[in-house]
Amino acid sequence: MAMSRIAKGAIPSPNIWNTPQVYELENRAVDPEGAADAAMRALRPWDGATVLDIGCGTGYHLPALASEAARVIGVEPHADLAALARRRCAGLPGVTVHAAAAQDLPLPDASVDVAVARWAYFFGPGCEPGLRELSRVVRRGGAAFVLDLDATRGPFGRWFSRTVPSYSAPEVEAFWVRQGWQRRPLDLRMVFERRADLEAVLRIEFTPEVAEQAIAETRGLELAYPNVLRWRWY
Ligand SMILES: C[S@@+](CC[C@H](N)C(=O)[O-])C[C@H]1O[C@@H](n2cnc3c(N)ncnc32)[C@H](O)[C@@H]1O
Repeated sequence: MAMSRIAKGAIPSPNIWNTPQVYELENRAVDPEGAADAAMRALRPWDGATVLDIGCGTGYHLPALASEAARVIGVEPHADLAALARRRCAGLPGVTVHAAAAQDLPLPDASVDVAVARWAYFFGPGCEPGLRELSRVVRRGGAAFVLDLDATRGPFGRWFSRTVPSYSAPEVEAFWVRQGWQRRPLDLRMVFERRADLEAVLRIEFTPEVAEQAIAETRGLELAYPNVLRWRWY
C-alpha cells in the first residue's frame, strides 16, 4: 500500500490495513448482543443526531449508526479503507466518509452530537491532538465515546500484553483519569460461525507465537473480549 494513501498521523493498524476481510470477520463476531452500542446509547442517545465515527475503517459500524442518527460521518486516514466504507454506505444518504485523521478532522466547529472511536487512535498518551479536535467539533451537550480492549483482564488482555509489551495499562488509565473521562468495563465476547475464522482473527491480532498459544488455549467458537468504554460530556 503506498504511504501517500494514508493520512499523516495515522497509527499503523496492521490487522485491518493488511487483512480487511479477516477484520470483517472479527467485526461480525464481536459483541453479538450489541452491549457496546446499548451502553453508549443509554448514556447519550443518537436518534436524529449527527454522529462521528473516528477511525471507521471499512465503515462496518456506519449503517447501524445511520439507522437512528440523522447524519453519520466516518473519518478514516487510510484512503483505501475509506473508499470501502464509502462503498458500504453508498445507498445511505445520511452517511459521509472522509479520508482524514483524528488529529485533523475536516469538520466545522460544534457540528457533532456524538463522537465514537472503536479500537482506533485514542489509546491513551499521545492522543491529545485528537482530544483537542473532539473539543472543537463536539457541540455543547454532546458526548464522545472511546471503546477499547481492557488489557488488564482475561486471556485476551494477557495475549495483547505479550504482543505489545510496551503497552502500559496503568499509564493509559492514569492518562484518561487526568483527562477527566469516565469509564465502565464491558464484558464483550466474540462468537464465530467457524473455527477457522476464530483462528484467522487471533492470527491478525497477535504475534505468530502468541496467536498459536491463544488458539491452543481456546476451545470452541467463542472468546471473551474484555473492553472498557470511556466517555466525556461537552
Ligand atoms: C482496529 S481498526 C478499527 C476500525 C473500526 N473502528 C472498526 O471497528 O471496524 C483501527 C482504525 O483506526 C484507524 N486509525 C489509525 N490512525 C488513526 C488516526 N490518527 N485517526 C483516526 N483513525 C485512525 C486505522 O486506519 C484503522 O482503520
